Amino acid sequence: MNSSLKAVEISKGVYWVGAVDWSMRNFHGYETSRGTTYNAYLILDEKITLIDTVKAPFKDELLMRIASVVNPAKIDVIVSSHVEPDHSSALPFIKEYARNAEVITSQPNGVKGLTVRYGNLHYKPVKAGDSISIGERTLEFVPTPMLHWPDSMVTYCPEDKILFSNDAFGQHLAASMRFDDENDLNTILFEAKKYYANILMPFGKQALSALVTLGGHDIKMIATGHGVIWRQNIETIMDCYSEWASGDVQERAVIVFDSMWGSTQILAQTITEAFAKRGIPAAYYDIKTTPLSDIVTDIFTSKYLAVGSPTINNQMMPTIAAFLCYLKGLRPQNHKALAFGSYGWGGQSVGLVEEELKAAGMEIMLDKIRIANVPTAAQLEDITKHIAELELN
Ligand code: FEO
Repeated sequence: MNSSLKAVEISKGVYWVGAVDWSMRNFHGYETSRGTTYNAYLILDEKITLIDTVKAPFKDELLMRIASVVNPAKIDVIVSSHVEPDHSSALPFIKEYARNAEVITSQPNGVKGLTVRYGNLHYKPVKAGDSISIGERTLEFVPTPMLHWPDSMVTYCPEDKILFSNDAFGQHLAASMRFDDENDLNTILFEAKKYYANILMPFGKQALSALVTLGGHDIKMIATGHGVIWRQNIETIMDCYSEWASGDVQERAVIVFDSMWGSTQILAQTITEAFAKRGIPAAYYDIKTTPLSDIVTDIFTSKYLAVGSPTINNQMMPTIAAFLCYLKGLRPQNHKALAFGSYGWGGQSVGLVEEELKAAGMEIMLDKIRIANVPTAAQLEDITKHIAELELN
């Protein structure tokens, strides 16, 4: 164990005791180029309280940080905000030290989920409106079901005005400094948007209702489950969440494609140029060079999407199929789309792409572009003209 791992006091008597996962690059399929953190918090009050744990491989780091301020055996209360293992899988380990601690979790789904994974760890179920006193402080529990699991909840401490928000407002961002104002804000906001797009996008309605509930609280600090803690830019991240949850999109196009011998790539370039020519910024993504999680972050707030694939064995390219599967699961809203691609014979891929775009809930803005073999200059001009004449609103 590394004894240099210490707790960080974030407010008087409240400590960050989480773990920094500098090397994490894939979080169940979400590419995390900047690593992540698993944040847990320790409150020293009459009842010593731990809010969340960490992913099991980091359990020793959690233990060392707790032990730097208090004997872990003295923990009286553990709040488990969320059953997903990145927050709960060190819970059984910590319970081996904190043998008498009660584990507060949501009723019924927190209790169910933790019991299935870890057996009976002395749970105390809570529901909306419940609160406990831990001495000088109160902890109020606010369920946030499907944000993003059925068991999810957040905890508010009115005396310190801290919201312990678990996944909400988080970012997959490893950092040595704990607060937003100690890190680059543009990077944090990008990672917060990427997190929302890849994890919370399907749950906009739930996010909006959680924001309404939380809006009634005076919040001076948002102690997230991942990434940095918000203390200076709370209004900014709240405004971002309101905007993201609304599903509003901007006049921007995203072009995503794979290509075998360059023809579909030429079509992608032409479509990108055509949008730009009519004053709509366009981003061009070769699926082979950009992770899906970065592409969907851009699609999330862009009104227009063009997806291209050549035909291979009567199908679309498997890379594009995987992308469309991922996108469909995120239930994107308010996008207009088109499918394009080249083919040697058959040419089924473009129709298949179009069907998947429809299945993802997108409005088809232009009939599919199917070009045999290599596009001619006249065909490219035709594509440019069609995009220039599109009725987009
Ligand atoms: Fe960070 Fe849903 O777990």
